Amino acid sequence: MKLIGPFSQIITLAGIPLKGAVKDEQLEIISNAGILVENGIIQKLGEFQSLRNDFPKAELEEIKGENVLLPGFVDSHTHICFGGNRSRDFAMRLNGKTYLEIAESGGGIWSTVTNTRNESKENLIQSTTKNVNHALQNGTTTIEIKSGYGLSVESELKMLEAIQFVKSTSEADIIPTFLGAHMKPRDFEGSNSEYLELLVNEVFPVLKEKKLANRIDIFTEKSAFSVEESRFYLQKAKESGFEITIHADQFTPGGSLLAVEFAALSADHLEFSSEKEIQALANSDVVATALPGASIGLGMQYTPARKLLDAGACLSIASDWNPGSAPMGDLLTQASILATFEKLSMAEVLSGITFRAAKALNFSDRGTLEIGKKADLVAFPTNDFRDIIYLQGQLKPNSVWKNGNLI
Ligand code: NIG
Ligand code: FE
Repeated sequence: MKLIGPFSQIITLAGIPLKGAVKDEQLEIISNAGILVENGIIQKLGEFQSLRNDFPKAELEEIKGENVLLPGFVDSHTHICFGGNRSRDFAMRLNGKTYLEIAESGGGIWSTVTNTRNESKENLIQSTTKNVNHALQNGTTTIEIKSGYGLSVESELKMLEAIQFVKSTSEADIIPTFLGAHMKPRDFEGSNSEYLELLVNEVFPVLKEKKLANRIDIFTEKSAFSVEESRFYLQKAKESGFEITIHADQFTPGGSLLAVEFAALSADHLEFSSEKEIQALANSDVVATALPGASIGLGMQYTPARKLLDAGACLSIASDWNPGSAPMGDLLTQASILATFEKLSMAEVLSGITFRAAKALNFSDRGTLEIGKKADLVAFPTNDFRDIIYLQGQLKPNSVWKNGNLI
């Protein structure tokens, strides 16, 4: 058993419901606090000196200076396994070029596919590890990573094997997701449906057999896969026992209703969700995931996070870190910016990057600081938790713990 502290404040996020709006007054704040950890699990939280007196044999991991402790962040949506970079796309976008013009001139998702296909598995392992470590330093202790830049049986499996290797060696918890249905590859001679059938027949069994991913994602969008095409694919995924998540309503509404229909774990993006989609999500158990990094990267409207919360939805906030639409890769900065535009309370932001994001990954063992939960922790050098959102990502963590171990 060890006692970590003292902290100026511990923000437990305990007692906040999974769904709906949250006021800052609902935050449980323990001042001059400590936390007892054993075998990676939280044993007790409370006033530091009382814990010290009550557990004199506990080894002390002393925290120097003023610090606020939060649960480790959960990033429930990323694409951080990729080759190349898309700064050329970004420059073109700044010059007013459209998505189509960029794609036609050799940019877009397809250029990342080409670069990722040309990359060795070892190089992908190296760059993905670097990205995971960057996120970990910034407080993200659980991170989802999608495939989707291979778009052939061979290259998708290469990506997933790279992700699996990083998962086996990283200190962070990594959750792989199969996104072979990101778009129909340009070199596939056949229809969208035929491509999806190929994935179902050739990739789904390998995912199971090699335990490469238990989650299936699809980009449901006019430019990718229609609602009807997606329905076929998701039906097959469901029948095979996979968990489901959807890139939904990014440019046109529709995907989120499918997420509700299939009881997906989450519907992500939602920039163009209308009242109908918002209500459907709020009345379901599907986590609504905002990806402000993509809005910032593309210069487009934010996910209607305020409306979703007021309607009663479970709002997660994720980075969508990818080379095309969300190159920043800084969850806390993006969540803080979303908050200013959408008028989210600090409690809503913190919930959205911890236990509500954990729900999008089907975890209930993390994301709050309570007895029995994982000791995934992040400490920021301040005596007031509000500084963390107020400084919009510029206040960096002092320390991060995974399963009770200091990283
Ligand atoms: O989540 N919307 C589709 N997919 C990614 C972007 C991928 C890319 O542009 O490389 C997203 O934003
Ligand atoms: Fe994405």
